[in-house]
This record gives sequence, structure tokens and C-alpha cells, in this order.
Amino acid sequence: MEKSMNDAINCGKKYVMNTYNRLPLVFTRGEGCYVWDMEGKRYLDLVAGIAVNSLGHAHPQVAEAIAQQAKVLIHCSNLYWNQQQIDLAKLLCEKSGMDKAFFANSGAEANEAAIKLARKFGKERYHIISLKKSFHGRTIGALAATGQEKYQKAFRPLPEGFSSVPSGDLHALAAEIKPETCAIMLEVIQGEGGINVPDASYLQSVQELCRKHQLLLIIDEVQTGMGRTGKGFAFEHFGLQPDIITLAKAVASGYPMGVMLAKEHAAVYFVPGDHASTFGGSPLACAAGLVSAQILLDEDFLVSVTEKGAYFQRGLKTLAAKHPNKIADVRGMGLMIGCELTIEAAPVIEKLLSNGVLVNGIGNAILRFVPPLIIEKSDIDLALEILDSALAEC
Ligand SMILES: Cc1ncc(COP(=O)(O)O)c(C=O)c1O
Repeated sequence: MEKSMNDAINCGKKYVMNTYNRLPLVFTRGEGCYVWDMEGKRYLDLVAGIAVNSLGHAHPQVAEAIAQQAKVLIHCSNLYWNQQQIDLAKLLCEKSGMDKAFFANSGAEANEAAIKLARKFGKERYHIISLKKSFHGRTIGALAATGQEKYQKAFRPLPEGFSSVPSGDLHALAAEIKPETCAIMLEVIQGEGGINVPDASYLQSVQELCRKHQLLLIIDEVQTGMGRTGKGFAFEHFGLQPDIITLAKAVASGYPMGVMLAKEHAAVYFVPGDHASTFGGSPLACAAGLVSAQILLDEDFLVSVTEKGAYFQRGLKTLAAKHPNKIADVRGMGLMIGCELTIEAAPVIEKLLSNGVLVNGIGNAILRFVPPLIIEKSDIDLALEILDSALAEC
């Protein structure tokens, strides 16, 4: 007899560690912007694995690249070279203006690599300043860099040498720079912090402070990168020239990959033995990354992301005008959009879910829209229509 969705979930609760607040759904397949649960119900996916499935589900070119590579060579260790890693490093460097790549398996790991590189660059300097409300990952170093007490408090003591200051407050940032500071680390648009878009002049001033004090500027593009905001990398919107950027999430369309890219003057500080990752940059991961990067970083594709993002934001702003007592703010760039409610987000998310739309919440009141970048305007219209009714009922 076939197992029911509830049976599967109960078994999961018994054997899988309890680290996530999961909705009671088991997904079995996806295609484009849609996913299907075990009972055959279809959902429009505006979560996209939290900004991971930027090419949607089961993208034919990604699936083909993974299948072909799996038949030839899955893994071969970084004791040797593999062509896929070389090709992907070249493409990501050319597209980002960076010089060298280090491959890992997640965003946190990419940030750990950046932290270590900054400390090696700093020699006796080791202190890294990040911003309040930032999110850089759950491993112990990335967690120390994360500017949110709620993620840190149960895990103290954290490694020393990290502090965070409020975003937008240049005086606080300047005051925090000490003789032992080696880098400033930030997300251009804070994702987990609530889709917070900063002032261009603030970011420019941060960069000037970095230059003045010989600090590395590390930009965490784990969520914003690979076309999500309508540019290949969000720093490009603000004319920044970071020394290090980190990528993960969409970089290999859901195949696990994290990347640290660095300018030569920083990259040169890593020498053999300084850092490594068994799985990082495997032929299989890089085959997935290569086809993903070729599509996601194409100029015409990026223009389409900008257009669809503007269309989505316009639709949300129209809803905000219709429901002024329910929507407080609509913000974001490209297809990374936050919609801040004046009411609890959970019942709205539940209504959307029961009407076949997946949306994720940040905190208690923000709806986060990070759909596949291949989304069609007709899907955006459908999402807006269902959100309109959900808001009317909440
Ligand atoms: C900006 C940012 N950095 C780092 C991370 C951590 O990435 P991962 O979960 O792949 O370790 C995330 C995850 O949400 C993120 O949004």
C-alpha cells in the first residue's frame, strides 16, 4: 500500500533531526516554476528553495549536464585538476571582474573561506566588522560574523574577532575600525534580515573606509548573486569594487556549491595547505554550475529579470494601495522582493499555500518573494490575484 503524506511526515519526525519548522508537505517533483506534493497537488513556487532554483525545477539543460557528467566523472579530488572547475572559475571571474575562485559546498563555507582569507591577508589583523541584521551562515565562524543575536545566543562562546554595527550608520562603522581590523563584510541587500536595500552613498562610503584603512571589502552575494537582482551580482548596481565576493544558492541551480571569488591582491595570500574542501569544485558540481552560470549571467536574461521584477513590484504596490491597512511596504531589486505587512504573515502564507502558492516569510510580518528567475508574467499575475484574496480574508 502506498504511504500517505502524513505517514511520511510522521516517519520524518521520528528519524530526521528537529532543526527546521517545516510545513506539512512532501514534494515529489517539480517543473519550471511549479512543484507537486505527494498527493498530486500543484503549487506555484515563489520560494525556489530560498533563491536557489533560479532556473526553476528540472531545467532541461541543467538536468542534462548533471546526467552526462555523472556518467563520466563525478569526483576526482583537488589533488588533481578537472576541466569543469577550470571553465567555471574562468567564467565566474570574467563575469564578476574578480581574479580567482575557491570552490566549496555552501554559502556558510564560502564565507568561512572569505573569513580565513581576510585573516591571512591581515597578518596580525584579524577583526572583521559586519552589519546588524546580516546573515552569513550557521557554521561557527560565519555565525560569529552574522549580526543577529537570535542565531548566536545558544552557541556562545563564538570565535573572537567579530563585531557588528547598524547598517546605514557610517559613524558607528568608522568608530568600530580598530588597529586589528582587516575586513568589512556585508550583504548588499540583506536577505534573511528582511530584504533591506541600503543607500548607494552609504555603500560607497563603506568602500572608501575600506580603502582608507586597507581593509578588504567582502560582499556576501550568496542570496543576491547570479542574476537575482537583475545584475549578475548586486554590487554592480552600486558601482562597488569588492575584494572578495561569496556565492552559493543559485550558482549550480540546486546542486550544492559555494564559491569565494577574490581579486588577485587578496587571493595571493592563500597558498597550498591554507584551505581546502574535499567536495569543493567537483566535476559534477561544476558541470551544473557552468550551464547555470551561462544562462543566469547572460545579458538578455538579466534584462528579463529586471523587467519581471519591476512588473512584480508594481503589482504588489497596486495591492498595497488596495489594502493600505495590510501592506506597509514593498521593497527589493529584480526578483528579490520583500512585502512588509502590518498584520501577521503566517495566516497569509497559509491562505496562499491552500490556494497553491508557496511563499516564505521573514520574521513575523515580511513576505519574501524569490521566485525562479524564469517565471512568466502570467504566473506573477496568478500570484498577485491569489495574494489579493488572501489579504482580503486575513
Ligand atoms: C546572504 C547569505 N549568506 C550565507 C548564507 C548561508 O548559506 P548556506 O545555507 O548555503 O550555508 C545564506 C543563507 O540563507 C545567506 O542568505
